[in-house]
Amino acid sequence: MPEARTVPATHREVHLVARPTGLPSEEHFAVVTAPVPVPGPGQALVRTTVLAVLTIMSDLIRGRGELPVPPFDLDACVPGPSIGEVVDAGDSGLKVGDIVSSQAGGWREYAALNASAVQRLDPAALPYPAAHLSQGAAAYLGVVHAGEVRRGDTVFVTSAAGGVGSLAGQIAKLRGAARVIGSTSSRRKADILTRELGYDAVVLRGAGPIEEQLRDAAPDGLDVVVDNVGGEQLTAALRVARRGARVALIGALAGQLGASATAEIDPHALITGGVTLRGAALYDHLDVIPEWLDVFGRELRNGTLTFPRAVLTGIDQAPRALGELLAGQHVGAVHVEL
Ligand SMILES: NC(=O)c1ccc[n+]([C@@H]2O[C@H](COP(=O)([O-])OP(=O)(O)OC[C@H]3O[C@@H](n4cnc5c(N)ncnc54)[C@H](OP(=O)(O)O)[C@@H]3O)[C@@H](O)[C@H]2O)c1
Repeated sequence: MPEARTVPATHREVHLVARPTGLPSEEHFAVVTAPVPVPGPGQALVRTTVLAVLTIMSDLIRGRGELPVPPFDLDACVPGPSIGEVVDAGDSGLKVGDIVSSQAGGWREYAALNASAVQRLDPAALPYPAAHLSQGAAAYLGVVHAGEVRRGDTVFVTSAAGGVGSLAGQIAKLRGAARVIGSTSSRRKADILTRELGYDAVVLRGAGPIEEQLRDAAPDGLDVVVDNVGGEQLTAALRVARRGARVALIGALAGQLGASATAEIDPHALITGGVTLRGAALYDHLDVIPEWLDVFGRELRNGTLTFPRAVLTGIDQAPRALGELLAGQHVGAVHVEL
């Protein structure tokens, strides 16, 4: 049985202290020293080991977007998904040393969490705990269930270097796609996509009309689109869609990080081309998660899939990590390890 760790009297949390009108940056947060919480009935004390920063946090920090969750509170610890180790099990039914994930963990070194709000991780499921913080389930939902990628397909994934896109291209290849095209914003990231992440070609946001670039990259058209962006990229993808194309709408980054995700739709072209547009949110398809974890664990172990992620160290780095994610500095997921 693992020995109980010595728990310090105080720890650090990152609080949201101002609501930005634009994208959040470090000045909107403060690192606060607070007493380590004492677990109440049904709770365990969890030491955070890794947390994920996500673009959706920017919407919740700004208090905008039509999301099924309330905005983040001011002057309170920033919530968010994390992994941690149980250091005091209290009467929660968990055990000291259990590795758990939680959406309620947040940007803090220790958290007293209800047993019902954590999930004990099976060490045999994925080769390392941080993989449980991947956006892969959304990528899998888009590629397999909403986009229905089949052998021989030509697939376009927007924001291919993001947390979702960096796995979506690889999953499409795993499903037998013949050609996978991604979008990103820089040559550096385009090179990583084609060298390491299964992409055959890349179109560059900000380097001329996406539609022209897409027609060059997919002269016979697109069978599947996994769209994380909307806006010009979705408009272009619909124009380049082949007959019977499936378009999975997964994200709207052009609205979250830019001016608007609104795209043009030509109903006549979609009707005559038999094109399907399917919006899909993971919270409506939770059954996809165990299916994905099964695939992810197996393919990570045999080296068919890789999980790209950037890691910053220390709880005080969480605001910077979010800023770097939003600025597009990284490829894959962005994590903070403690
Ligand atoms: N449907 C669901 O259940 C579900 C689940 C998870 C996530 N999502 C959504 O899926 C989308 C992708 O998530 P993610 O985690 O992969 O995103 P992400 O990695 O956090 O996205 C950040 C990336 O967005 C790109 N970007 C920045 N500004 C942009 C702009 N103005 N227009 C277009 N792209 C811009 C940048 O990539 P480049 O520099 O490479 O362009 C940046 O690296 C998000 O909208 C997220 O909310 C949906």
